[in-house]
Amino acid sequence: MTDAANSEHTFAPSRDFVNQANVNDPGVYDEAERDPEAWWESHARQLRWTREWDTTLEWDPPYAKWFLGGTLNVSDNCLDRHVEDGYGDKVAFHWEGEPGDTRTVTYAELLSEVSTFANALKGLGVSKGDPVTIYLPMVPELPVAMLACARIGAPHSVVFAGFSAQSVVDRVEDANSKVLITADGSYRKGNIVPLKESADKAMQGTDKIEHCVVVKRTGEDVAFTEGRDVWYHDLLDGADDDCPPEEMDAEDTLFLLYSSGTTGKPKGIQHTTGGYLTQAAVTHRLVFDLKPDTDVYWCAADIGWITGHTYIVYGPLANRATSVMYEGAPDHPDKDRLWEIAEKYGVTILYTAPTAIRAFMKWGPEYVERHDLSTLRLLGSVGEPINPEAWLWYHEHIGGGNCPIVDTWWQTETGGIMITPLPGMTETKPGAAMRPFPGIKPVVVDDEGNPVERGESGLLTLARPWPGMLRTLWNDDERYVQTYWARFGKAIYFAGDGARLDEDGDIWLLGRVDDVMNVSGHRLSTAEIESALVSHDAVAEAAVVGRSDAQTGQAVSAFVTLLSGQHSSDELRRQLREHVAERIGKLARPAELMFTDDLPKTRSGKIMRRLLRDIAEGNEIGDVTTLANPTIVKQIQQEAQTARSS
Ligand code: WT7
Repeated sequence: MTDAANSEHTFAPSRDFVNQANVNDPGVYDEAERDPEAWWESHARQLRWTREWDTTLEWDPPYAKWFLGGTLNVSDNCLDRHVEDGYGDKVAFHWEGEPGDTRTVTYAELLSEVSTFANALKGLGVSKGDPVTIYLPMVPELPVAMLACARIGAPHSVVFAGFSAQSVVDRVEDANSKVLITADGSYRKGNIVPLKESADKAMQGTDKIEHCVVVKRTGEDVAFTEGRDVWYHDLLDGADDDCPPEEMDAEDTLFLLYSSGTTGKPKGIQHTTGGYLTQAAVTHRLVFDLKPDTDVYWCAADIGWITGHTYIVYGPLANRATSVMYEGAPDHPDKDRLWEIAEKYGVTILYTAPTAIRAFMKWGPEYVERHDLSTLRLLGSVGEPINPEAWLWYHEHIGGGNCPIVDTWWQTETGGIMITPLPGMTETKPGAAMRPFPGIKPVVVDDEGNPVERGESGLLTLARPWPGMLRTLWNDDERYVQTYWARFGKAIYFAGDGARLDEDGDIWLLGRVDDVMNVSGHRLSTAEIESALVSHDAVAEAAVVGRSDAQTGQAVSAFVTLLSGQHSSDELRRQLREHVAERIGKLARPAELMFTDDLPKTRSGKIMRRLLRDIAEGNEIGDVTTLANPTIVKQIQQEAQTARSS
């Protein structure tokens, strides 16, 4: 173990970083607090509006409308504006395919292709307000399709290409789309993923789709249904490249993005135009300190998730950024692929997830050391609480010890970043998301809704509307109210996360509240115990769940993956349990600890704690085929059974 995972140690940005930062005056917090609406307005003004708004905010809890009466078009803001300003030749995306093929897409080329495809969509009968489902891998046609929809006012609903045919069916049915945009296939870990086959299966499960547009990516033979399926390139050939952007109301729907909730049915999270783009652009510019003329920015997420919507497509393009976009797996052909790409394009800003960072740790620093990453100047993290060990590893091995790290908390529902350091002024603490973005009002409350004191934990709520917030769930206002606005009243958004306010008033995210355990009446965070386990020299990754226990209410069940070269043994098990007891307290010592070769993950890389809980409880487990690694489940079950009977 290292002492470094010590939350008392803070990391201040270097003087050089501070001096050049887009924002380095702590006065922004007070300014935004004094008049949040004026703060957001000042950033909305950075966009190009075709008509100025009359009302900044209409708040009829829990329904918010921002920049009411204003009109604009998102694709105009992301493309036309920059081309008119003389940046047509600037690179929007350095795209790299997994097999090593590359494409460079400039703003002018993007505008031309978006306009042409927008006309093609109109030709298929898509008009303003018609939802279009997009089921594409990480190819340039994905942002093109999204922006083309935005250009004509058709809300898009992107379905992550790793999802099954059934997920496409559910989403197409719920959104009622007539058009599906997909590809023949894509590349992943050297294999071809037959996406069109899944799309075909989906179209057997719903009769809603009238037209299926197919992007040629792999060139494999695919089945084509006459009259329904059409090649993307054939459509482009037949369409004009002049398509004036539709004038949209600020509150018109820009997109739906389905996200799983606590029930089986995915929630269609609905985002609108003016407020969403305002928050996407300002958070991208200030949190990532973006300098559009010199930075090479890389958000290594998939556009199929909100992270990619906001921080690969809309935020960066609104800010005229040059981005890297990568199609495939981080370990193909070898475990240094990301670092090879970062070196090749001279990446300056990298945004990724803790689960990826822990994979890099497990693979070892030698893969990073093969490459020159000295152009990097800022690192970001998103998706789950980052354990201090991973934070410190990221800082040292990727950032070379001198890049600020922004640990950004937000959700599909929030549209953009909500809690985060500002890199030019925040002294960061490894593992803490630190402070609300200016204008955001998080309040950590107890079960009754009373704000907790510093030094205490509770539930994270948001006590003030923000421009990028979801407006409702598609066709389901009732579920919208029930899920987010019922627990503490309809003006307080319940995020579903636990959080701790430390003695300085800084915010630490503790994971979803269903991941917070209560052992003998004490609140324990799964994230905290995981972090303790990962801080041990032998451990690569850990997941902790609470299982019911007759005596203590809940007991701690830990699942641990070792670093390569380490071997499981009863002695190591004993050491790890003691290690947790030492780090957090005896109360946190895992009742049982299972060694496993991998942890069950969703396709988005989140550890499936719900499944682990079922395994720990000895419950029947449901369908695991949607996991990224379903085969690991058997091994874990056997381990757990042995642990229970010993
Ligand atoms: C949930 C939202 C936001 C884009 C990716 C996930 C967790 C997200 C952090 C962070 C701790 C985090 C929360 C949140 N989460 N970022 N920096 N620290 N937890 O979007 O799928 O909507 O998931 O991810 O639990 O509620 P999402």
